[in-house]
Amino acid sequence: MLGMVRAHLEQLQETLSALKREGVTRVAVSEENLARLRSAVARLQGKSAAAPEKSAEEISVAKKTPGSPAPGRRAEEISPDARPNPERPREPVVFPKISPQEKAASPAKPVPVKAPVAIGKPLPPSPEVVLPEGDKKTRMAWLRERVLGDPTCLEHVKPGKKLVFGTGTEDAEIFFCGEAPGAEEETEGEPFVGPAGELLTKIIAAMGLSREQVYIGNIMKWRPEMPTPIGNRPPTAEEMAFCLPFLRAQLEIVRPKVIVALGATAIEGLLGPDPGRRIGKIHGQWHAFNGIPLMPTYHPSYLSRNGTNRSKRVVWEDLLRVMEKIGLPVSERQRGFFLAK
Ligand code: URA
Repeated sequence: MLGMVRAHLEQLQETLSALKREGVTRVAVSEENLARLRSAVARLQGKSAAAPEKSAEEISVAKKTPGSPAPGRRAEEISPDARPNPERPREPVVFPKISPQEKAASPAKPVPVKAPVAIGKPLPPSPEVVLPEGDKKTRMAWLRERVLGDPTCLEHVKPGKKLVFGTGTEDAEIFFCGEAPGAEEETEGEPFVGPAGELLTKIIAAMGLSREQVYIGNIMKWRPEMPTPIGNRPPTAEEMAFCLPFLRAQLEIVRPKVIVALGATAIEGLLGPDPGRRIGKIHGQWHAFNGIPLMPTYHPSYLSRNGTNRSKRVVWEDLLRVMEKIGLPVSERQRGFFLAK
């Protein structure tokens, strides 16, 4: 029983951590649910159900901030773009259909754990990647071999799982960059093939493109390992530093017209750490990576969690800017996606 309580708390922890990475800073928790959380934490700690206020903070539930919450509710904004409204049922995220094989149901949510600061052995210094001469295909094939044979990368792959190099065309005009492979990705060896990937694929289709016409990569080439068989955590700074030369080399080969940085980790990896560079503030604004225009936007998993037309529109507007930048035709229908009727 306690195991289940712990699993639920860990799941909550991961959801909150993921929201935070996506730029969400506040969530709404009813007094009733807060009491349940306190009681659960107290049970785990072997204390009485009347645990101190601190218990809820320990599992990172929204910090109380000044304001006037609705009666019986700690109503905290998560962002102006994604206002949690517990009274309103969430709409599913629906981007235009792209193929009949899309899965009807998402796989069960993994049980998460708190992200540790560092896991496993310290990593060696970041590798130096010197690309050979040759055309894009030759260089990418060389880089793929280099990454998939890298002893440090290989050390971080669990038996039966795969490193995730990247996919798409070397001639892509748009390079989508995510955070790290998850469970589905390390099984397939391909980025964005799980639930977040399904959504990204729909977004790409809504732009009038296919996965084969763009390039999709990640900051990390391996799935950051967990002390449990399931769950995800964001990469540490050391892990990101180790993998970044590979991503930089991919970008050097592709030289896309635009990079789309999906979520806080991709933004930090490509633009460098900066606490002032919060995604809620900078998404939709052009940045640059090595002279390549870079558009920061929310990670697709943000849309899975905040599937309102409003949040979809926010991401879509960022992507309309990308389409305009590279001269992709934008139909009136596309321009109007997710606008309030
Ligand atoms: N999330 C990412 O950031 N990358 C993936 O490849 C899958 C999920």
